Amino acid sequence: EEVVTDVPSLDTLPTIPLFSDLPRDAFIELFERCPLRRFQVGERIIEQGSRGDAFYVICEGKVRVFRSDNAQRVELAVLEGGAFFGEMALLSGAPRTASVEAGADDTQLLEISAPVLASLSRSHPQVAAALKKFVRQRLLTNVMN
Ligand code: CMP
Repeated sequence: EEVVTDVPSLDTLPTIPLFSDLPRDAFIELFERCPLRRFQVGERIIEQGSRGDAFYVICEGKVRVFRSDNAQRVELAVLEGGAFFGEMALLSGAPRTASVEAGADDTQLLEISAPVLASLSRSHPQVAAALKKFVRQRLLTNVMN
């Protein structure tokens, strides 16, 4: 894993539905405040059962979300550019519900820490509302799996 120093160009960034209602200056400030992390295929980003202190937005590449049940790997989702993950443990305080690994080389993720998310949710409540909507959907998928 490696921290990329240059901010991604805004024109090559995928559309991020979570931030679609965010004013442009707040969006840019977020990218300036948060580290961009780069992973190679197969590298673990989140470990199921661990404590969560950040969530991630996919700026480039993709990730695989899976659960380990009795040593069996259960695939839950493949997430691509513009999607996010790792929000559940932040919102609930519970351990990570699944593991996540990079699904492509040069997968680039914006890492948003718990305090940055908290302040973003205060200044832009629509982000917190959108996050919760996704969480409900994902929890529903997982009880059916
Ligand atoms: P968290 O529990 O913090 O860490 C694992 C993450 O995997 C979780 O947050 C979600 O962001 C993501 N995740 C879990 N289940 C699903 C799902 N069904 N679809 C997409 N992402 C998921």
